[in-house]
Amino acid sequence: MALTAAGLLALGVISSSSGFIIPVPSPQTCDSVQNGYQCQPQISHYWGQYSPYFSVPSEIIANVPLTCSVTFAQILSRHGARDPTAAKTLKYNQTIAKIHKNVANFTGKYAFLGDYEYTLGADQLTDFGRQQMENSGTKYYQRYADLARKAVPFVRSSGEARVVESAEKWVDGFTQAKTGDRWANNQYPSVNVVISEAAGSNNTLNHDLCTSFEDGPDSNIADAAQKTWVNVFVPAIQKRINGDLVGANLTSTEIIYLMDLCPFNTVASATGAISPFCSLFTQTEWQDYGYYESLNKFYGYGSGNPLGPTQGVGFTNELIARLTKKLVVDNTSTNHTLDDNAATFPLDRALYADFSHDNDMTAIFFAMGLYNSTSALPNTTIETAQQTNGYSAAYTVPFGARAYIEKLQCLGHREELVRVIVNDRVIPLHTCGADILGRCTLSDFVGSLSFARSGGDWASCSA
Ligand SMILES: *[C@@H]1O[C@H](CO)[C@@H](O)[C@H](O)[C@H]1NC(C)=O
Ligand SMILES: *[C@@H]1O[C@H](CO)[C@@H](O)[C@H](O)[C@H]1NC(C)=O
Ligand SMILES: *[C@@H]1O[C@H](CO)[C@@H](O)[C@H](O)[C@H]1NC(C)=O
Ligand SMILES: *[C@@H]1O[C@H](CO)[C@@H](O)[C@H](O)[C@H]1NC(C)=O
Ligand SMILES: *[C@@H]1O[C@H](CO)[C@@H](O)[C@H](O)[C@H]1NC(C)=O
Ligand SMILES: *[C@@H]1O[C@H](CO)[C@@H](O)[C@H](O)[C@H]1NC(C)=O
Ligand SMILES: *[C@@H]1O[C@H](CO)[C@@H](O)[C@H](O)[C@H]1NC(C)=O
Ligand SMILES: *[C@@H]1O[C@H](CO)[C@@H](O)[C@H](O)[C@H]1NC(C)=O
Repeated sequence: MALTAAGLLALGVISSSSGFIIPVPSPQTCDSVQNGYQCQPQISHYWGQYSPYFSVPSEIIANVPLTCSVTFAQILSRHGARDPTAAKTLKYNQTIAKIHKNVANFTGKYAFLGDYEYTLGADQLTDFGRQQMENSGTKYYQRYADLARKAVPFVRSSGEARVVESAEKWVDGFTQAKTGDRWANNQYPSVNVVISEAAGSNNTLNHDLCTSFEDGPDSNIADAAQKTWVNVFVPAIQKRINGDLVGANLTSTEIIYLMDLCPFNTVASATGAISPFCSLFTQTEWQDYGYYESLNKFYGYGSGNPLGPTQGVGFTNELIARLTKKLVVDNTSTNHTLDDNAATFPLDRALYADFSHDNDMTAIFFAMGLYNSTSALPNTTIETAQQTNGYSAAYTVPFGARAYIEKLQCLGHREELVRVIVNDRVIPLHTCGADILGRCTLSDFVGSLSFARSGGDWASCSA
C-alpha cells in the first residue's frame, strides 16, 4: 500500500524538516482497547511515565501460543492518567502566571499561550484516565476469556483514591466485556482488598516502610542523575524559548514544567487530543525528555538505586505464593494479617488483579530481574534503551500500564511455563533460561527469584 501524505496525516506522523511536529487534526479519539494511545506516537511514546499506555512493540509475538492454554493470569496495573500531583499543579500554575506577567508578545505556535488558562486539578484520575482503565479491564477479559468466562479475578488495590478508582473502573470494563459474552457465567469481580498507604502500613503495592530507602542518602541518586542530564539537553531549549518569549526568562526547571504541560493537558482532554504545548518542542527533545523520566525510575526504583529493587520484594514473594499455591514467605513489606488469611489472600484463584503506582511497579520489575540485562543508564548521553532492550519509563510504567504474568500449560511440556508481558511486550526471562518464546518452567522461574525469596536487601532498611 502506498502511503500518501494524507495517509501519513491520518497517522499523525508528519514532521517538518526543522524537526518540529506539525499539529494534525485529531481523530475522534486517540485511544483504543487493543492498541492504547496512538496519536503522534513519535512524541507521545516518549513522555516517560506521563505517556498514556500504548501497546509496546514486541520481538516475540505476545499472543497465547496455539499449543498452550493459560492456567493463571496476574495483572499488575498502574492507575490511569491523572492530573498533576498537588505540589506540581501549584508550580505549573505559577509558571504560567510568570509567563503571562512578563511576556507581551505571543505569536506563531505560542499564540495559544497568551490566553491559556491553567485549569488542571490535582492527584485524581481524568476522564481519559478512567476510560483507559475500563479499556484495560475489557482487554484483559478478552485475552483471558477462556478462564474469565468461568472465573472472577481476585482484586486488590493500594489505598490512594486514584488507585482504588482505577481498580473500580477496570472491574467495570471487565464486567461489561463479560456481560456481553454469551458463553460466560454470571459471576463478576469487585475490589476485594484495599491496602492502606498510611505511614507504617505494610503494603506491597506502595513503598514507604524501608526507612533508609525513603530518607537515606540514596534517595537523592535519581535527582542527581536527572540534574546532570538536564544540564545536557535543556540549555538549547531554554535559549530558544526565552528568545521566542521575550521577557519570560524561564529557568531550566520551568522549561521541564512547560514540557510536562504537554502530556498533562493531553490527558486532560477526554479524547486525548494532543495539546498545543507539545508542538513547542522537537521530536528529539521529546526523546531527551523521555530519557530524563527513565533516569528517574532507573535511579529511583530500579537497579540504579541500591535499595530500589528491594522495594519490590514483597509483591514478588506474593506472586510466588500465588503461582505455587503456597503461603507467602516474606519478612519485608507483606502484611501477614492479610496474607495468611484465605479471605484476603486466597491461593486457589486463576485470575488476580493488583493496582499500584509507577514507582512500585518499577521496583517490582527489578526485583523480578526483568531488566537485569539492561546496563546502567548513562546520565550524560542518551541511551537508546527504548529501542535496544525495552527499558524505558514509557515502555514500562505509562499511565494505565499493565504487566501480565501468565502460567501456560503447553503441549509437549509436562511442567507449566511462565511468561511475563509488559504493556504487550514479551519480556524474555533470560534469568531462568528463556526459550524462544521468552518462557521458563515454573520451577526455573521461581528458582531464579532468589533475590526476592531471600528478602532482597531489606536488612539495610533500618541500618
Ligand atoms: C492558579 O493560580 C491563581 C492565582 O494564584 C489562582 O487564582 C487559581 O485558582 C489557580 N488555578 C488552579 C487551577 O490551581
Ligand atoms: C495489616 O492489615 C490489617 C487488616 O487490614 C490491619 O488492621 C493492620 O493495621 C495492618 N498492619 C500493618 C502493619 O500494616
Ligand atoms: C552522573 O554523571 C556524573 C558525571 O559523569 C557522574 O559523576 C555521576 O556518578 C553520574 N551519576 C549517576 C547516578 O549515574
Ligand atoms: C513578536 O514576536 C515575533 C516572533 O517571536 C516577532 O517576529 C515580532 O516582531 C514580535 N512583535 C513585537 C511587537 O514585538
Ligand atoms: C532571570 O532570572 C534569574 C533567576 O532565575 C535572575 O537572576 C535574572 O535577573 C533574571 N533576568 C531578567 C532579565 O529578569
Ligand atoms: C522470616 O522471619 C522468621 C522469624 O524470624 C524466620 O523464621 C524466617 O526464616 C524468615 N524468613 C525469611 C524468608 O526471611
Ligand atoms: C510488617 O512488616 C514488618 C517488617 O518490615 C514485620 O516485622 C511485621 O511483622 C509486619 N506486620 C504484619 C502485620 O505483617
Ligand atoms: C538480577 O540481578 C541482581 C543483581 O545482580 C541479582 O541479585 C538478582 O538475583 C538478579 N535476578 C534474577 C531474577 O536473576
